[in-house]
Order: sequence, then C-alpha cells, then structure tokens
Amino acid sequence: MNSNEKQPLVQVKDVCKYFHVGKHADLKAVDHVSFDIYKGETVGLVGESGCGKSTMGRCMIRLYEPTSGEVIYDGKDITKLSKAEQKEFCQKVQMIFQNPYASLNSRMTVKEIVGEGLKEHGMPSKEADEKVQQLLETVGLNKDHMSRFPHEFSGGQRQRIGIARALSVNPDFIICDEPISALDVSVQAQVINMLKELQEERGLTYLFIAHDLSVVKYISDRVIVMYLGTVVETAETEELYSNTLHPYTKALLSAIPEADPDKAKANKRIQIKGEIPSPINPKNCCRFAERCQYATDRCFNEMPKLREMAPGHMVACHLCDEQ
Ligand SMILES: Nc1ncnc2c1ncn2[C@@H]1O[C@H](COP(=O)(O)OP(=O)(O)OP(=O)(O)O)[C@@H](O)[C@H]1O
Ligand SMILES: [Mg+2]
Repeated sequence: MNSNEKQPLVQVKDVCKYFHVGKHADLKAVDHVSFDIYKGETVGLVGESGCGKSTMGRCMIRLYEPTSGEVIYDGKDITKLSKAEQKEFCQKVQMIFQNPYASLNSRMTVKEIVGEGLKEHGMPSKEADEKVQQLLETVGLNKDHMSRFPHEFSGGQRQRIGIARALSVNPDFIICDEPISALDVSVQAQVINMLKELQEERGLTYLFIAHDLSVVKYISDRVIVMYLGTVVETAETEELYSNTLHPYTKALLSAIPEADPDKAKANKRIQIKGEIPSPINPKNCCRFAERCQYATDRCFNEMPKLREMAPGHMVACHLCDEQ
C-alpha cells in the first residue's frame, strides 16, 4: 500500500465512456467524471437507472476501457500496469455484481465459483477448499452448500456467494454494484450489515452503487450523485443530506418514503418532470435542465461545472452559482 495516507486509493480523472450506437451517434454513458476514494471509506454512487453507475464501476475494474480519462489505483494508471502489477490489481480490486442471478456461472458448484480465484492465484486444492468453507461461513452459509449449484439458492444467498467470491482473494477495494437491489427488504439489511462488518474487520474500501439514497445514507461516508452520465453533486453524507443543493438530489431525497406520517406531510415531495432524456448525443447544457422546475435560459445553453460550495461539497448547478 502507498505510504502517503493523503493520496487517494482510487482517483477517477475526467473519465468518459462513450458507446458508438450509430454512424453519428454516441451514447455518453459516462461523461467527464472525476472523483477520489480514500482508503477505508465507503463512497456511495447514486442516480436513476441508466445514469452510468455500472459503466463507471466497470471502467474502474478494467471491464471497460474508458474512451478518455484515467483511473489511478494506488498511484498507478490501471491501463499502464506491468503483467505482475495487473495480476495484483485483479486481486486487490473486486466487484460484486448487480444481478446475483446472471453473475454466477450456473454450471459451476459453489465450491468452484468461490474457489476459482484462489486456484488462479496458485493455491493448492485442499487449502483452497478449506478457505472456501471459511469464506462461506463468513457470509452466513456453510460447507453443505459447497457442492450445490447457484439455481438451488435464494437471491439473498446467491448475493452472499458473490460476496464470498469477491472476498476470496483478499481484496482491498470492492465495487458493490447495487448488491441489495434484487433482494427482499427483509434480506437487504442483513447483507448491508454484513458488508459493514466485513469492512471493519478487513479494512476494506467500498464504492457502493445504489438507486436509493436511503440505503446509501446508512453505509456511506461520502455520496456522489450522478445524472445522465455526469456528476451533479458530491459531499460528505451528513452534509449532502442536511444541506442539499442540487435540485436533482433534492428530488431524489424527497422520493424516500418517510415512516413518520407527520413528517411525511411536512416534507413537500419534489416531483421531477418527464422521463430521463436519451444519453445519445446529449446537448452541451445542463443535462437536468429539461426536467428541472427552476431551469433558466442559461441552464439550456451552458453546461454547469462542479464547484465547491462548502468544504468538500461540490455541485454543478447554475442556480447555485447565482445565489
Ligand atoms: N455495452 C453497452 N453498449 C451500449 N450501451 C450501453 C452499454 N452498457 C451500458 N450502456 C448504456 O449506458 C447507459 C448507462 O448504463 P449503466 O448500466 O451504466 O447504467 P446504471 O446507472 O448502472 O443503470 P441501472 O441503475 O439500471 O443499473 C445506459 O443508457 C445504457 O443503455
Ligand atoms: Mg447498473
């Protein structure tokens, strides 16, 4: 690990990921995104479906090559690693995938799925089997599950298998891509608590991707809000929830159901107009303008830049500039 504690573990620098979807059509899934993640912290990445969260995660683990920009891990550009460094990177950075149904190979047993990485890194079979058993116990499963196939498990159990697989190679950084969205509410809290405990025990760093600002509030130290490929607001969790600045973040927050009926009445729900626009060839203006109830001419003509409004609190909104 890098000796300089101040240096972020992960630096995302001006990353773009465009998909060519037609002769003159670029789908700008991630568009000039920058952020840092420090060792031991959990950063929440939030936004509606299709805003580019998984694509961002995939660029950070080299499943996608960014169109431009850089991802720096532990001080090194991840596209410029030597063979040995690449091997280490594959071990240190893991991803828990969004869909626990599709992300596990249905023809492999749990023992093979969880043990695959161990064997790839040269662990003898017997030792690997023992480690798999330990890992299954860590995530609340047991050795009787080792010879079974993914279809024999519930969604929550499958996600636990995915987590055991990610943990098997002793990673430092895990990208958790909506690890609980596909699960029943009753199981969600269990998986979240487990991830938190694992973090404390193992000093893990997380990027936690979610639609839902309520889940992220509980688990994150800092939150990044994305809208249509761009970052619109980022701050420490407390600050983001108590001093929300971007109209889109405000709308996302007001969509969280309030358990207390008196409070629910008092919180006027902010509605977002219309559907999410297409990310194909977007106009060079505020991506949220056409759905924002406060938008002015400037918002339709000029792209707002992220600006620091309070220490560590960045927002990209012309309205905030004018305040
Ligand atoms: N391989 C691909 N080819 C073309 N377009 C893609 C590809 N992968 C993603 N996209 C598009 O990029 C945009 C961002 O997708 P992404 O999966 O990153 O969103 P997301 O924020 O993770 O959404 P969700 O919350 O539904 O998982 C979407 O418009 C999607 O259709
Ligand atoms: Mg996704």
